[in-house]
Amino acid sequence: MINKPRGTEDILPVDSPLWQKIEQAAREVCASYGYREIRTPVFEDTALFQRGVGDTTDVVQKEMYTFEDKGGRSITLRPEGTASLARSFIENSLYADPQPTKLFYLISCYRYEKPQSGRLREFHQFGIECFGGTSDATDAEVIALALSFFEKVGVKGLKLNLNSIGCPVCKKDYNEKLREYFGQHQDKLCETCHTRLEKNPMRIIDCKSEICSAIAKDAPKMIDHLCPDCKAHLDKTLAYLDAVGISYTIDSSIVRGLDYYTRTVFEITSDALGAQSTVCGGGRYNGLVEELGGKPTEGIGFAVGLERLIMILKSQNSDNLIPQNQPRIFFAAIGDNADIEAQKLVYALRQKNCYAERDLCGRSIKAQMKYANKLGAAYSMVLGDDEIAGGKAELKNMADGSVQIVALNPDEIYDIIK
Ligand code: HAM
Repeated sequence: MINKPRGTEDILPVDSPLWQKIEQAAREVCASYGYREIRTPVFEDTALFQRGVGDTTDVVQKEMYTFEDKGGRSITLRPEGTASLARSFIENSLYADPQPTKLFYLISCYRYEKPQSGRLREFHQFGIECFGGTSDATDAEVIALALSFFEKVGVKGLKLNLNSIGCPVCKKDYNEKLREYFGQHQDKLCETCHTRLEKNPMRIIDCKSEICSAIAKDAPKMIDHLCPDCKAHLDKTLAYLDAVGISYTIDSSIVRGLDYYTRTVFEITSDALGAQSTVCGGGRYNGLVEELGGKPTEGIGFAVGLERLIMILKSQNSDNLIPQNQPRIFFAAIGDNADIEAQKLVYALRQKNCYAERDLCGRSIKAQMKYANKLGAAYSMVLGDDEIAGGKAELKNMADGSVQIVALNPDEIYDIIK
C-alpha cells in the first residue's frame, strides 16, 4: 500500500465542514475590510523566494521543495504567499489601480521541515497583503482584520505579540551590535549561524537550535535601537490599536523567520498549541516589492496557519465539529419498478437543491432503512409495487415516527420536507 507523504494530511469529509466554515469566515471578514481574493500558482521560479524570502532564512536554506523541471528551470513549491503576491502585484501592474491594493488568499504551502504536532510539510494558510498603504493606520487595519477573523471563527484565548524590527537605516547599526554580541559566543553557535553572523546576524535570534536560542536571549534588542522614524511609526501604530481597544504585548524577541520584514512584526499565539504556538504571523515589508523589481511600495500582511487554527478550535469547543450534510429524505425501494421511481424522485428533488438519497449498494429493505437512519435522513419513504400502482406512499418523519400519505409527486414531497 502507498501511504501519504510524511508531513502531509488528508482533510477528510468529517472535517471539511469546519474548513469550509473557516474559509467562509475569512471571505466575509475580508469583504468587510475591502480585501479581494487572489490565486497564484502553487510553484514559482526558485529565484522569487531566494530574493523575496531571503537567502539566509531557514525557509530558503533548508526547507524549500525545489526541483528542476523538464525544461531545465529551477522551480520551487511556494513555502508562503507573500513573495508570490508581490510578484503578481508587479507583474500584473496592480499598482496602477487606486491604492492600496488589498488582497487575500487561501493557499497550500510547502516546507521541508521536521514534521511534528502543528508543523507539516504541506499546510494551509489564510493570508492577506496590503500593498501601497502608506499610512500607519494600515498596520492597525491589518492586525484588526486578523483579530476580527479569529473572533468570527470563535477561537478564544489568543495573544497578540508585537515588535518593531526597524528599517535598513537602524538595522545597519543594530546588526553591528549583534555581530559584536554574537561574536563573543561564536565558538558555540551552530554552523548555519556562523554564516549568518557575517551575512545577517538578526537571523541568529530566530535559529531553532537550542544553544543558539539560549545565547540569543541576552542579545541586544532592536526595539531599543530604533531610529526616530521607526520609533514614531511604532508609537502611531500602537495609538491606532489603542483607539479601537486592541490589547497587545510588546515582545522584543519577535524577529520573524523571513528576511523581507521591516518595522512592525507581530505574532498571534495560543497556549493550546504547545511548542508551535504561533497561529498567525505577519508584518510590514517595505522593501520587498522593490527587491523583486517593482517601484518602492510599502506592504504589510499576515498569514494564519489553518491546521494550527483547527487544532485550537478542536481543543476548545466540540461545537466546532459541525454536523455533516444529512439527507432531507431517503427513498427505500422494493423491486425494479420502485427502484426506477426512487431514481426519478431523488433526481427531481436534487434538481431543487434538496439533498435526497437512495441506496446504491443493492441492500435489502431492512438494510436500506438502517442506512437511512445512519445517514440521519429527516424523512423516509418506502416504495413498492403497491405504491407505484396507487401513485402514493407513506412519508415518515424519522424524528417522531409520524406518517402521512403523500402523492409520488416531487413538488408535493418537497413542500413538506424542505
Ligand atoms: P510564517 O510565520 O512563516 O509567515 O507562517 C505563517 C503561519 O503559517 C504560522 O504562524 C503558522 O501558523 C503557519 N505555518 C508556518 N509553517 C508551518 C508548518 N510547517 N506547518 C503548519 N503550519 C505552519 C509567513 O508565511 C508570511 N508569509 C506571513 C506574512 C504575510 N507576512 C506578511 N504577510
